[in-house]
Amino acid sequence: MEKSKPTKSGGLAGIVAGQTSICTVGKEGVGLTYRGYSIEDLAEQSTFEEVAYLLLRGSLPKQHELSDYKKRLQNMQELPEAMCQILEKIPAEAHPMDVLRTGCSALGSLEPENDTRTQLDVADRLMASFASMLVYWHHFHSKGERIHTVSGEDTLAGHFLHLLHGKKPDEATRRVMDVSLILYAEHEFNASTFAARVIISTLPDFYSAITGAIGALRGPLHGGANEAAMELIEQFPDPDAAEQGIMDMLARKAKIMGFGHRVYRDRDPRSDVIQNCARTLAEQHSDRVLYPVAERIDQVMRREKNLFTNLDFYSAIAYRFCGIPTPMFTPLFVIARTSGWAAHVMEQREDNRLIRPTADYIGPEERPYVPLDQRS
Ligand code: COA
Repeated sequence: MEKSKPTKSGGLAGIVAGQTSICTVGKEGVGLTYRGYSIEDLAEQSTFEEVAYLLLRGSLPKQHELSDYKKRLQNMQELPEAMCQILEKIPAEAHPMDVLRTGCSALGSLEPENDTRTQLDVADRLMASFASMLVYWHHFHSKGERIHTVSGEDTLAGHFLHLLHGKKPDEATRRVMDVSLILYAEHEFNASTFAARVIISTLPDFYSAITGAIGALRGPLHGGANEAAMELIEQFPDPDAAEQGIMDMLARKAKIMGFGHRVYRDRDPRSDVIQNCARTLAEQHSDRVLYPVAERIDQVMRREKNLFTNLDFYSAIAYRFCGIPTPMFTPLFVIARTSGWAAHVMEQREDNRLIRPTADYIGPEERPYVPLDQRS
């Protein structure tokens, strides 16, 4: 019997590459769910710590479990002295994604995962300490300050904002940050998560998988889109200029960052939630430029290309009004997505098989080797 040909697809689009019980993306009638809970319910009613607990431990925490978990994460915020020294050596001009990629790898040698039974400790430690690494490096290089990385905040959103701005954040800003972390936490077999699963399938340590995932997230076709969207939006002084600019870009067949999605066809359910947050903050800041410009770009893309905003587009505006420097947008995605990556790493380990697809060879036919002195 003839062996059936393996299915192939550019960019693995539409290929089912494994099973998961963590998340559904774009499933008809349900959209985005984390372990069965809709993203709308989670964004409205839960907190990032509940979501991280849900993703990593499989169920929503009870009240006392949540309090314990928040304390546990809070106790993991502080950086070892050796880590601070490493962060000080990373150049001031580096991109903050370099800081997290290097920081993750360095923590893997300072606090190695010697036994996979400690994997939850590694996952929580990375989530809790990423904001500390990022902001320590930022303040050291921008102001020459060696900050204390224990903020006294019991949420990751509050911890990040407090360290960055040197004071307790107001509740509205902290909640927007919390919601954005929920929205960014998990998204099935996206490029960075798949990268993490490929890496862990070879049975290395936990940190190797997360370090690789950070690298995959960085590009503008994935996590880097929120920074690219901000750079696009703030080019334009008003909505009319934005419309003209986008029409010119479309005529040049340029990609507009923050639009489109590999899996969603009509809308990204996360985008509506973050757009509401961005609108509210824009009103609070009496903004007359950024939000109207963003809304016009959104309208033009719908009209001209039938393309919709993904999570990254309005996240950019929301982050701007939370006072976050643009190069920290994608690192915030890392802090949130570490919960999803870690859940996938643990799931892959539970039922592991080496991930190793095959390729269609399109190179030259087999040919004789030409010795060095006979090559023309
Ligand atoms: N701007 C302009 N055109 C876009 C577009 C965008 N953001 N996204 C998709 N398109 C167009 C493509 O040019 C292509 O048109 P064509 O068929 O005429 O060549 C078509 O839509 C299909 O796009 P393609 O890039 O093949 O889809 P994909 O599934 O491979 O890519 C993304 C999905 C997300 C990578 C893509 O939409 C994109 O690059 N978006 C911008 C980056 C971004 O926001 N990334 C964050 C994702 S959450």
